[in-house]
Amino acid sequence: MENITGFPVTDKNYLKSRLFLVDEMRDLARKCSFIIESPRRFGKTSVIKEFIRQENAKDEKSKEFNILFFELEGEETVSKFCTKFFKELLNLYRIRKKIDEIGQFLGGSWNVFASRLKKIDALEVGLEIQEKTREYDFSKWKEKITPLITGLNSFDKRTVIVFDEFPDMLHNFKTKGMEPLDFKIVTDSLTGWLRSLRQVQDSECKYQFVLCGSINLRKTLEEIGISKRINDLESFVIPPIKSAEAKLLIESLAQESNIEIDPDGIQFMVSKITEGSPYYGQIMFKALKDTREKTFTSGMVKAIYDAMLRGGGHDLNHFHSRLVEYFSPLERECSNVVLKHLCHAAVPEKELYDLLLYDRCNYEEYQRVVNRLIYEGYLVRDIHNKSNLKFVSPMLKDWWAYKAGVK
Ligand SMILES: Nc1ncnc2c1ncn2[C@@H]1O[C@H](COP(=O)(O)OP(=O)(O)O)[C@@H](O)[C@H]1O
Ligand SMILES: [Mg+2]
Repeated sequence: MENITGFPVTDKNYLKSRLFLVDEMRDLARKCSFIIESPRRFGKTSVIKEFIRQENAKDEKSKEFNILFFELEGEETVSKFCTKFFKELLNLYRIRKKIDEIGQFLGGSWNVFASRLKKIDALEVGLEIQEKTREYDFSKWKEKITPLITGLNSFDKRTVIVFDEFPDMLHNFKTKGMEPLDFKIVTDSLTGWLRSLRQVQDSECKYQFVLCGSINLRKTLEEIGISKRINDLESFVIPPIKSAEAKLLIESLAQESNIEIDPDGIQFMVSKITEGSPYYGQIMFKALKDTREKTFTSGMVKAIYDAMLRGGGHDLNHFHSRLVEYFSPLERECSNVVLKHLCHAAVPEKELYDLLLYDRCNYEEYQRVVNRLIYEGYLVRDIHNKSNLKFVSPMLKDWWAYKAGVK
């Protein structure tokens, strides 16, 4: 498998021990809508992309799903989101030879358009769609898109509609110019509409939604008081890697690059990335590869690791830059105190607050910071030890310890 740091991985680059996740995702997609939940860089987009790849690799008869995948990170307005959604739905109707039906859903004025769409590529009519829908507001969009979605029940195959980076899009609504009130209204009506589409589903329903993204959707909606909009969704969790997986990852990467690492060196790497995401293994391996050496003793591995953490390359710095982006100055101050303390030892959540933070922020603010640090992939509540707060992986802990001057 190739060494990939950051982009979604599929096929032979997908760690074999994790393929069961793709099977689990397929099983879920047969029966319900769900949210893919895990911290950032744990492999959410990868599991979706590998699921799509496996589906596309089948011959037409064995294919089970139509899959619509939307990458929403850059979407800044509801109407752009709806336009994209609408176009892809029309395209699916075209591909599945159902385009003649859209007149009945969209109104007679779309009939001529539908017959043209049959003959030419969907992309070519993009401008025409834009023109025809220019005046649409959100309720008009709902009126047009809703029947196209319920109409999916007449298709032979199930349809899976994936919104990747969905909460990032909501975040854009908030930061790219809308008033806070507007943000709440827009988010409420958008998530409310999507929920109503799920509610009409019965056992015969042939479409499901999958939501995921790098900002915690549950917390985002909780904060504006509308978490009920998604409480019907099943949760699909991408777990951290176990030590056997960490070993497999390092060995598979080493094999592909003809690199030899002595057993102690491998053990050292495994100890640093276990319980984290495969991403940490990938960036650690990349640091080795970047030296252009081909054989590594454990001493070299340790020295390279040390230099990587002290140097803080791009792959680690992006962890930090997100905190700067998403935290207010007060929250950042709290997070620095929390992280620094956890470099020394894991501690119970409440104790940490009482000890160090009670005079800086209220408990709610503290919890928001902790939850964000969990979602950003820094911390976890240790299920094996009284729910203590601790760093997700030793690697991040070491990195932060250097940064905060603890080491
Ligand atoms: N199954 C996997 N096998 C190997 N590497 C993986 C796997 N899942 C994630 N990774 C590593 O993590 C990085 C981020 O994966 P991605 O799917 O984009 O995460 P997310 O969508 O959760 O942020 C990848 O570039 C890769 O380095
Ligand atoms: Mg992703």
